[in-house]
Amino acid sequence: MSGRASQILHISTGGELGGAERVVLDLARGLHRERFQVHVLVPRHGRLAEALRAAGIPTLVVEYWGRGHRLGRYSSWREYASALLSLPHVARTIRALARFVNETPIELIHAHGIKAQAFSAGLALFVRARIIWHVHDFLRHRRFWRGFQVLGRRVPDLLLVPSRAVAREFAGWGNVLVIPNGVDLQHFSPSPLQRADGPRRVGMLGALAPWKGHEVFLRAAERVSRILPGVEFLIVGDEIYDTTGHRGFRRRLEREAARRGLASRVRFTGFCADVAAILRELSLVVHCSLDPEPFGRVLVEAMACGVPVIATRGGATEEIVREGETGLLVPPGDAERLAEAIIALLQDPQRSAQMGRSARAWVEGAFDVRAQIRRIEELYDSLLS
Ligand code: UDP
Ligand code: GLC
Repeated sequence: MSGRASQILHISTGGELGGAERVVLDLARGLHRERFQVHVLVPRHGRLAEALRAAGIPTLVVEYWGRGHRLGRYSSWREYASALLSLPHVARTIRALARFVNETPIELIHAHGIKAQAFSAGLALFVRARIIWHVHDFLRHRRFWRGFQVLGRRVPDLLLVPSRAVAREFAGWGNVLVIPNGVDLQHFSPSPLQRADGPRRVGMLGALAPWKGHEVFLRAAERVSRILPGVEFLIVGDEIYDTTGHRGFRRRLEREAARRGLASRVRFTGFCADVAAILRELSLVVHCSLDPEPFGRVLVEAMACGVPVIATRGGATEEIVREGETGLLVPPGDAERLAEAIIALLQDPQRSAQMGRSARAWVEGAFDVRAQIRRIEELYDSLLS
């Protein structure tokens, strides 16, 4: 390769390590370093900034939306109104970051999540960089959908989405590209030891957020326990979002588990830095989001570790799970069907093991992070040429 590296600025909406932030981290670490010099703007100190710095990625920590960062899907209009007080701060930050972009000079801005995208729309007034909006959520039912449509048609050169399900929200837009997320298949790999007769463990992994359906998991756990009393249930993850409506959820779930007589059967691990290590201890992973899942990295991570999955139908899960082959799909919010599916797989270890092997093979072909990165490099090349 000759010539200098293209300077790319990724902007993250979140500062912890949920799915979208893991994508930022994978790209920052994986993009060809001689061709792309990646900088990342994150809204606060946290696990994402720590991981980026540990990987030697230039990281700017700027609370670019001020108190607007606390706004989320559960915020009230009153909270939105009070965030307006941050507008002078936002305006100053846009000017300061625009100077950074122009002086570096950054040639391409890759914005993940709605706050990063709205911020990039402000930057676009002052900079000439190309802009990608990487949409990690379903937006049509969100209150800023109208605003998104107006800006989304003008500001970015391209919308990047992780699944055909998310792309369907933008039917007719023309500038939408689907690149599925991938995972590191060396890191997420099956345990070399066959789990034969160890304890049977069913895990649910992900941020503790009401829409992820932990309550359905607990209801299903109660039903499963009546039939298979030796099964352990793990809830892996924490309240990583500081947007309104997330605090106190873990306490609520712990009380709910106790109320259902599951205190000794359900373990809350908190945030786990090494998810692969936990996955290798599991017989089964359950993903029971109540709302459609835009992608669902944990499904791919579990399958990469050779663990079969049970997911709720809707969103991208039908693209990610091959029903009956790498896992099972059940209707959202239906604890009874979920319990039946868990029992069916736990009672048939041979079928589960076969599903785990098929899952690994499927993920190797469809969700390799190296393939994702290669496609994004090609996209950058085409936008920058
Ligand atoms: N995760 C993690 N530690 C935990 C729980 C989850 O690192 O304790 C990671 C998990 O490995 C996955 C991400 O968080 O990469 C969750 O991504 P997903 O796309 O499944 O859902 P999201 O939370 O982004 O909606
Ligand atoms: C968001 C979505 C999740 C997706 C992740 C990465 O956090 O909720 O489904 O896997 O982004 O694209």
